[in-house]
Amino acid sequence: MTTSTSTTTALLNGVLVPLDEARVSPMDRGFLFGDGIYEVIPSYGGQLVGFSRHMQRLAHGLAAIGIPNPHNEETWQRFFDDLLSRNGAGNLAIYLQVTRGVAEKRAHRFPETVSPTVFAYTYEIEPAASGDKDTAHCLSVATGLDLRWKRCHIKSVALLGNVLHMMEGVDSGADEILLFNDCDELTEAAACNVFVVSNGTIVTPELDHQKLPGITRNMLIDMIRKETDWPLEERPVTRGELLAAEEVWLTSSTKEVAPVTYIDNKPVASGQPGPMWSEAQRLFSRFRFEY
Ligand code: PDD
Repeated sequence: MTTSTSTTTALLNGVLVPLDEARVSPMDRGFLFGDGIYEVIPSYGGQLVGFSRHMQRLAHGLAAIGIPNPHNEETWQRFFDDLLSRNGAGNLAIYLQVTRGVAEKRAHRFPETVSPTVFAYTYEIEPAASGDKDTAHCLSVATGLDLRWKRCHIKSVALLGNVLHMMEGVDSGADEILLFNDCDELTEAAACNVFVVSNGTIVTPELDHQKLPGITRNMLIDMIRKETDWPLEERPVTRGELLAAEEVWLTSSTKEVAPVTYIDNKPVASGQPGPMWSEAQRLFSRFRFEY
């Protein structure tokens, strides 16, 4: 038996195990085909952000690809609570993936008898952002043509398209990459949704099959609509509008609302986080556990 050196506890098929002892068969369809769904759920001090929303998106994703959801919300909650407390309940993201399971042979069609493989572990994330300009994590982004598949609304573990786009950004010295469709309209970033402030209005591309329905995006929209009178529109954003924007933000579970200050090495407005970004992140900070 090997001795564990990892302090991280993982969840594998309902059992808590040291991460470095977790084993999955190479015949798992997640490994062979990317045949599975994942979620990344942030938590601060043991409290999950957007838990029910993440569970609903997981349920939709699993249904979209015909994998039975192995647990109800209550059971997922219990697993996550155990995982968080075993891992110190600090600032932790839970990575969860559910794959179709282990098949006897590699064949494209779904196997008839198979049960889903559930794997989750935690990793540390930055403390929750405050909206303070001095501590803002400003992002520099590249731009590129969105070459991924036409089912980006499904949070599939098959992320090679996103990985290659992220590397396009990284190889050009940027932190992320903004993607455009064939009509030069913004879709999303390699691992985030995008907002712009255009002539004083907050604008984000409307959801369709080319974008992930981001939990942070949707929470922010709901907070803005319910708690503020800020103008907000969900509609197409062209490259021209993006490049002329006063502010650009990225949203994701681990970044919350992050200011983009450079696009293709050119500053967004003054190259500093904008005033609306501060307000938006402050709003998110105030209500993150309530939405
Ligand atoms: N990424 N769009 C894409 C392509 C993403 O991968 C993500 C999240 C988002 C934002 O979604 P949410 O607000 O639900 O995190 C949008 C995660 C964090 C990841 O893959 O690590």
